[in-house]
Amino acid sequence: MIPESFIQELLARVDIVDVIERYVPLKKGGANYQACCPFHTEKTPSFSVSPSKQFYHCFGCGAHGSALGFLMQYSGLGFIEAVEDLAHSVGMQVPRVSERTQTERAKKAPLTELMLRAARFYKDQLKVSPKAIDYLKGRGLTGEVAARFGLGYAPDDWQGLQSVFPDYNDPALVECGLVIENDQGRRYDRFRDRIMFPIQDQRGNVIGFGGRVIGQGEPKYLNSPETPLFEKGRELYGLSQARRAIHDSDTVIVVEGYMDVVGLAQLGVENVVASLGTATTGHNAQRLLRQANRVVFCFDRDSAGDRAARRAMENSLEFLEDGKRVDILQMPGNQDPDEYIREQGKAAFDNLVTSGTTPLSEFLIREVRKPAGESLDKQFNLATAEGRAQLIREAKPLLQRIAAPVLRTQVVKVVASLAELSQAEAEAQCGLKPLARGRASAPPQRRTIQISQLKTLLRAVLRRPERAARLPLDQIDTESAEGAALHVIANAIDHGELAAGNMGLVIEHFRGSAHEGLIGTLTAELAIDDGDESEEEIVFEDTLERLRNAELAGRINALNSRARAGTLTAAEQADLTGLLAAKAGRMAK
Ligand code: UTP
Ligand code: MN
Repeated sequence: MIPESFIQELLARVDIVDVIERYVPLKKGGANYQACCPFHTEKTPSFSVSPSKQFYHCFGCGAHGSALGFLMQYSGLGFIEAVEDLAHSVGMQVPRVSERTQTERAKKAPLTELMLRAARFYKDQLKVSPKAIDYLKGRGLTGEVAARFGLGYAPDDWQGLQSVFPDYNDPALVECGLVIENDQGRRYDRFRDRIMFPIQDQRGNVIGFGGRVIGQGEPKYLNSPETPLFEKGRELYGLSQARRAIHDSDTVIVVEGYMDVVGLAQLGVENVVASLGTATTGHNAQRLLRQANRVVFCFDRDSAGDRAARRAMENSLEFLEDGKRVDILQMPGNQDPDEYIREQGKAAFDNLVTSGTTPLSEFLIREVRKPAGESLDKQFNLATAEGRAQLIREAKPLLQRIAAPVLRTQVVKVVASLAELSQAEAEAQCGLKPLARGRASAPPQRRTIQISQLKTLLRAVLRRPERAARLPLDQIDTESAEGAALHVIANAIDHGELAAGNMGLVIEHFRGSAHEGLIGTLTAELAIDDGDESEEEIVFEDTLERLRNAELAGRINALNSRARAGTLTAAEQADLTGLLAAKAGRMAK
């Protein structure tokens, strides 16, 4: 964990304009800076960076966030990596990074260099190998797509790499998995006579390779071993090539093989990544859901594919938020996506993605109707009490993983009806804690605050979170998103968790918390308006004043009606007199 205070300090030190300018040329226009949005394709600039809010926002595609958010979205860095990157740029030291990781990082740099040199070598070799070129052509690939994915060819030579690494004995070559040393100390190239698929990390560094035999042979694919650069469960093949298409379509398709990614791209489906033969880890699910609102996991229709689909479902449940969608696409027939699109065409594949998928929730329900790992024909007999009890047993661990409240309620409802239980019984039997529902249990009260007023307050508070301390919280209910956000921010200020500052700081404070989605949506809406700061304080104070008056009027009304009913106590009479005097005093101001 990185201490919150460090993040706040870091964001106070960097200027979002400098950060974004490293990647996107910005033009000054009024108080803000403009550019063509790096996250979607456009001709006229709708991407705007506000130095006063320390916030960016695209009017075209809605992308928005702080300097950290930009780094994460733009380079696909994880939060910690983005913090490190940003800290590095201003010469700050991230406190949690131990010395060990630092030396590891320093050691990684030369390895990356070696991998890049090897990738160039393989690429050059492809150009002079008619056999490899023919193979790729035979699979329907053009030179353009091959170049886009940096495909190469490892020659049929035990020490082919010697020509680019004169110091073939460099231990780093073994360390990064390019060269193997046998028991006798003899060294030779790991990849020989194979089509090479370079695997890149999110920054575009080559960190590993997959090598396919040309034609038949075992193993069909040979992969780089785990190295300091390459941690298999974490990486996704094709992500850096797919980034723009993922953003434009707001969807990412996850397939099983290298050739599926390349083959789909060849026919124009570019928002595709492959999970590298390993199970979809939670880490991947989380990362993908950060980049798009819809993730489609695509699996072959065989027992391995079905197992993988189940694992993907289990691993996505906790990262699903309301408003995000995870779907499972089980390929029809015995075809993988590459074979399918080549035979049926792009339109047919697009159609599968649009209307041939199963929502995660439905997939889950299907899974809990039978023992885990069994096929669909092993369903429990729900006509019996035992069958229904088994269903609950299967459902329990899965339901517990669903983080999205609205979705969970819906899924529990279906499970409850299958098990012939009430919603409350099903929740209790599955060990589900009731979802936090804000302060909905507060006595019903006619809303005296209008949404527009809440928005005004929120705008002011987001700009200067310290203003939250002045809010009349007991007048603000949490039914609206705006009201809830005001409570959440006030609470954070109150507990000293959130320092005085700007909108960028608020966003980062709530990153990863249950309120991240809410704060994100609201800040995006509010980013559009770039009011005058001094004006904002006046409007804020004015709204507070109206609320105080409304509250006063409400209490006076309540006491007046008790007076009319003749039930006013002496103490209440005194209150009323005081309130009326206060009101008169206010009016006089
Ligand atoms: P598949 O066997 O489904 O191959 O493996 P494919 O993707 O259809 O490949 P082509 O079309 O025959 O060329 C799917 C993925 O599993 C991993 C690879 O990542 C591959 O892309 N795999 C498969 C291996 O790592 N090693 C193997 O020997 C086979
Ligand atoms: Mn295939």
